[in-house]
Amino acid sequence: MNKLKNGELWKDTEGNPIHAHGGHILKKDNYYYWYGEDRRDNIYVSCYRSKDLVNWEFRNHILTTDSKMEEYRVRTVCKLINEDGKKVNLERPKVLYNKSTNTFVLWTHYENGNDYTDAACAVATCDTPDGDFTYHGHFNPFGYMSRDCTLYQDKDDVAYFISAARDNGDLHVYRLSEDYLNIDKLVHRLWQGEYREAPAVVEKEGVYYLLSSFCTGWYPNQGKYASSKGIEEDWSSLQEFGDETTYHSQPSFILKTYDDQFLYFGDRWNADHYFESGYVALPLKLEGENVEMSFYDSVQLDDTQVITFK
Ligand code: DGJ
Repeated sequence: MNKLKNGELWKDTEGNPIHAHGGHILKKDNYYYWYGEDRRDNIYVSCYRSKDLVNWEFRNHILTTDSKMEEYRVRTVCKLINEDGKKVNLERPKVLYNKSTNTFVLWTHYENGNDYTDAACAVATCDTPDGDFTYHGHFNPFGYMSRDCTLYQDKDDVAYFISAARDNGDLHVYRLSEDYLNIDKLVHRLWQGEYREAPAVVEKEGVYYLLSSFCTGWYPNQGKYASSKGIEEDWSSLQEFGDETTYHSQPSFILKTYDDQFLYFGDRWNADHYFESGYVALPLKLEGENVEMSFYDSVQLDDTQVITFK
C-alpha cells in the first residue's frame, strides 16, 4: 500500500483494521512502533510496526486481560478484570524506551470499565518493543486524578508524564523517575480550569509545543497549543491551531520522523461506533512560537518512499 485516507480506519499489511487508538509512535532500530487502544475481545493495547508510516505490520497484542501482573516498588492495584468480571478500561497508552534499564515502559489512563471515577494511571513494562508487557497496576499520582495522558522523552532522556487532573480541569506535568517507573516530581499545574485533555508534546530547535483539546467527550473541538523554552519552564497562553474541530480529530501524539518531519497524529472518533474510529495524520508547521496545521486528504509515499501529503 502507498496511500492512507485521512479520517478512515486504516488497514495493516494483512488488510485487517488497525486498532491503535489514542496511541503513540516510538522510533526504535529504524522502525516506527505504533501502540494504541484495542478494545476487541480480551485485548487492551496492540502494537504495529512500519518503516514508512504507511505500511503497518501487526506485531502483538502487548497488553490483554491475560497479561502477567507483577507488583513493584510503587503501591498499586493490580487488576485487569474488574469486580463485575468485566474488562477495565485502559486509554491512551504511550511507550518510551529507557536506555539505562533497557526497558520499554508503558503508561496509560486507567478506569474501572464502568465509569470514569478511578481517574488513575497505570504502568507496564517489557524488554522488547513488541513483546508481552507485564502489567504493574494502577495508582493516582500523589493522590491526584489522572485521566487523558501522554509521555514525553526530553533531551538527556529525562521523561515526563502529562495528564488531566481535578476532573480534567487542570493539566499536570510530572517528571518521571530515572527508570520511568514512578512519578518523581509535579513540575506544573497548567491552565487551571481550562479543561485541556488529549495532550501531545514535541520539541523543535529548542522550542517545546504542547497541543491539546478541550473536553467534549468523543466529539472534536478546536485544538489549542502552547509553547515554552523547556518542559519545566513557563508555558505561553493557549493559541488555536487547525480549525474549529481540528479537522474532525483529537490529538493523540506528535511524531518527529526519521527524516525530520513533524507530524500530528489524531483520532477521528466515531462516538456511536468506537471500532469504526479512524486516524488523521497531518504535517505540522512549527516556526518559533507558532503552530500551523492544514488538512490533506491523504498520507502517501512518494517515488522515493518518503511520506507526503496530498
Ligand atoms: C475524551 C478522551 O480524550 C478519550 O480518551 C475518552 O476518555 C473520551 N473523552 C471519553 O468520553
